[in-house]
Amino acid sequence: MPWSSFAGDEAIGSRVEAELARALPRMACNLSPRKEKTALVRIDGQETKVQIKPAAGSVSASPNTDNPDYYFHWNRDSALTVRSLLALLPKVEGQPAADSIRAFLADFVRFSEKLQASETPYGLGEVRFNLDGSVDESPWSRPQHDGPALRALAMMDLLALGDAAGDGETRRVALLVLKADLDHLSYAFEAKSYDLWEISFGHHFFTRLVQLYALERGAREWPRLARREWSKAAVSLRKDLASHWSEADGFYHFSAGKVSNWEGDEVREVGGGRDASAILAVNSAGFTFGEFSLTDPRALASAASVEEYFRGAYPWNRDHQRAPAIGRHPGDDYYGGNPWFVLTSAYAELYYRLSHELREGDRPFAVTRDNRAFLGLALGRQLFLGQDIRRDGALAQELAQALRDKGDGFMATMLDAVGSDGAMAEQFSKEDAKPISADDLTWSYSAFLSAALARGDLRMDGLKLDCAQ
Ligand code: NOJ
Ligand code: NOJ
Repeated sequence: MPWSSFAGDEAIGSRVEAELARALPRMACNLSPRKEKTALVRIDGQETKVQIKPAAGSVSASPNTDNPDYYFHWNRDSALTVRSLLALLPKVEGQPAADSIRAFLADFVRFSEKLQASETPYGLGEVRFNLDGSVDESPWSRPQHDGPALRALAMMDLLALGDAAGDGETRRVALLVLKADLDHLSYAFEAKSYDLWEISFGHHFFTRLVQLYALERGAREWPRLARREWSKAAVSLRKDLASHWSEADGFYHFSAGKVSNWEGDEVREVGGGRDASAILAVNSAGFTFGEFSLTDPRALASAASVEEYFRGAYPWNRDHQRAPAIGRHPGDDYYGGNPWFVLTSAYAELYYRLSHELREGDRPFAVTRDNRAFLGLALGRQLFLGQDIRRDGALAQELAQALRDKGDGFMATMLDAVGSDGAMAEQFSKEDAKPISADDLTWSYSAFLSAALARGDLRMDGLKLDCAQ
């Protein structure tokens, strides 16, 4: 049965299409951006003011240069953005957008090679750079070892597309970047680092899961490049990741073991360990089956637990009962702690992907103690423990439909927060959805694009990727 014969929400589909058309040209302004900025850098031990002229292939996290200053190239944000662009590329083939994407990718790959070669105190664990590629000297939460994993995944996505994504030279450099990142991870995986929210120093679920996926995929797809250490690190990571599960809490904890803050003092786990980044991690790692995958009952338990927390936490969600806006974690106080576009999109993406898997996949899928609450919430009624959903074709279809509807619900909740200019900041107010924190966050747009691609059934062919300003 084609998707279109689903009694899907047509109205949401066209709202998503309209937003994509407005969002991508805004995002494009952050790819190889133009605006210059003055920054303090250290030259011969002296703090000196210099003019930063963004390089081709750099990605600004946002155009904001203050409150907060996000006018930097973050490894994490840029890699995730490149991955969404690569997922979009086949859908826009033969159109001007495809050429814009390819041209940008060629620059991004070269810029990445340059960054890898620069001298930083934490090697490839450096978090972000000035947009001209110089080292950022400001105090920050360093190192963060998820960036190299995400960048390696971006390189593998690119290489998987062959010459549709880049010419021979671009692919040659992409392979070097990939190898350097995975070699780095093969020892850095053991080290503590800052989490993706840049708050605590320790071992984190998000970081570990994207590292695991990058290393396993690298060893599988590039056996001639791989070192034995890649696979050895992956074996360790699988074991470490399992320790994040808490039977008592019913979710994968954000961190495992002791964590500390900037001052080095031991602190309690962020948000009591309940954090939406578990869902981001599952999406970024492409596992479909088994532990830490899209269908892992424990991942779904974690999703339900975070979702139920946010349903009650934000006034905005009172009128958005179908699917709540999602923030980072309980007790978040960054800009007041509000829903994030990135995270609400990540939920839409998870539901869409699971819906597809139920319709198209053929592996058994049963109701367990861990996934029962999640499935019950999506379906609006409880299923029986042990029930094999796949065997009951009608139930699998019903659930697939319910999951897709709920994915649409997350999109609707988020689209209600977007103004007529299509802009997505980092956060939207938990009270009235006004934009909060960084404006035009590149990652907000790319996460939305990624969710839209996971939904499918949308027109992507007229999309433009030229900066509108
Ligand atoms: C704490 C915030 O939660 C985090 O997201 C931010 O990146 C750091 N502070 C640095 O400002
Ligand atoms: C703060 C977020 O916590 C972090 O994940 C992100 O990389 C930076 N902002 C830049 O967007």
